[in-house]
Amino acid sequence: MTERWTPQSWRTKPAKHIPADYPDAAALARVEDELRRMPPLVFAGEARRLKGLLAEVAAGKAFLLQGGDCAESFKEFSADNIRDTFRLLLQMAVVMTFAGGRPVVKVARMAGQFAKPRSSATETQGGVTLPSYRGDNINGMGFTLEERTPDPERLIKAYNQSAATLNLLRAFAGGGYADLHNIHRWTLGFVEGSPQAARYRELSDKISDALNFMGALGVTPESHPVLHQVEVFTAHEGLLLGYEEALTRVDSTTGDRYDTSAHLLWIGERTRQLDGAHVEFFRGIKNPIGCKVGPSMTPDELLALIDVLNPANEAGRLTLYGRFGADKVEQALPALMAATRREGKQVVWAIDPMHGNTLTAANGYKTRPFDRILSEVRSFIEVAEAEGVHPGGVHLEMTGQNVTECLGGARALTETDLGDRYHTHCDPRLNADQALELAFLVAERLRREQDSARAAVGAG
Ligand code: PEP
Ligand code: CO
Repeated sequence: MTERWTPQSWRTKPAKHIPADYPDAAALARVEDELRRMPPLVFAGEARRLKGLLAEVAAGKAFLLQGGDCAESFKEFSADNIRDTFRLLLQMAVVMTFAGGRPVVKVARMAGQFAKPRSSATETQGGVTLPSYRGDNINGMGFTLEERTPDPERLIKAYNQSAATLNLLRAFAGGGYADLHNIHRWTLGFVEGSPQAARYRELSDKISDALNFMGALGVTPESHPVLHQVEVFTAHEGLLLGYEEALTRVDSTTGDRYDTSAHLLWIGERTRQLDGAHVEFFRGIKNPIGCKVGPSMTPDELLALIDVLNPANEAGRLTLYGRFGADKVEQALPALMAATRREGKQVVWAIDPMHGNTLTAANGYKTRPFDRILSEVRSFIEVAEAEGVHPGGVHLEMTGQNVTECLGGARALTETDLGDRYHTHCDPRLNADQALELAFLVAERLRREQDSARAAVGAG
């Protein structure tokens, strides 16, 4: 792949999951032109900063926490939803940092996560067949021809929603909400009374004691602004390449091209073909990027993909998200990790324990059993340790809303509970209780990993 790259060069390659059925191609082109003139959502320097932090993850010195909705939607867009998912991320990060003893890089799957690859291009209900729902930036969920017809104006609405979401995230992150002194206030009302809430309270009491102690020594948010704010980055699947191309800009300080729709973009499991449009687009942007890695990936294919996406072997550039399923991870992951380690590839290995563990319940709901999600995370950490690779992070579909979408957890949600509050626009998400439980599990495992590394150094 030595051909010249341009932000448009993907257009000459086969593209999967990009809708070709816009009724008015000229209208789509006009909207893309309009987007080309819109301000960037993120600044290239921020993307470079995230790349630097991910290099720390690649080196085993930090951990990546990435999470948010499967699909953002126009209907669920509200300040409360943004705040609730953001504070859940904060809580999880605190648990992982404190108990796991390593800095946590926080990446919100927010402010641009709209477009979805679908397993079938059409959906049939009661003998009527219509195009599948592809995400609110493309078409509507309602089962009518009008809703399901792609409408380019939706791209503008999604851009504006992303800008507003990012603005609020930046305000929360920098404006004092995320001050560690507020740690007790982040607990979501409905989590109160759950075992996770008690564990979290215990941990936040300890942190408050430590902050009081430090305050007495003069280490306060005024003297150390780091206590007053957090760094949070945004990410989404870079699926709709026309939109991503329109937001790709030349960085004036380096002359490089960055996709300014988010800090990090990833390639999905269904669009990672070596000769396809998505890999072509991604190889040229300088953002930190990710790629999903499912059970069909072979070590040779993975190495070939890494050579195209990260030819300079730059640490922090490429994050691999395994997504195998609890029953396949132990079989599939060791050879892939062994290959990247053997070849000295500087990558972050993370796990998406959601997409390989989806099933349809007897009552028709698409769901995920929480114990399988936990089991895939556990296996990931064990395989990584056995292969001498840092288990670098988790990528989750989760929400701060009190939803009933994944089975199990401390409240033991059953199939009959799923109908109570099933709101997702695509895949089932962890609720706050389940997400916190997962954070505690990861923290314990990381602590163990660190203890055994220390013991090994001590013994040597
Ligand atoms: C997703 O992350 O929502 C997704 C579609 O994942 P995958 O590409 O791994 O199936
Ligand atoms: Co999903």
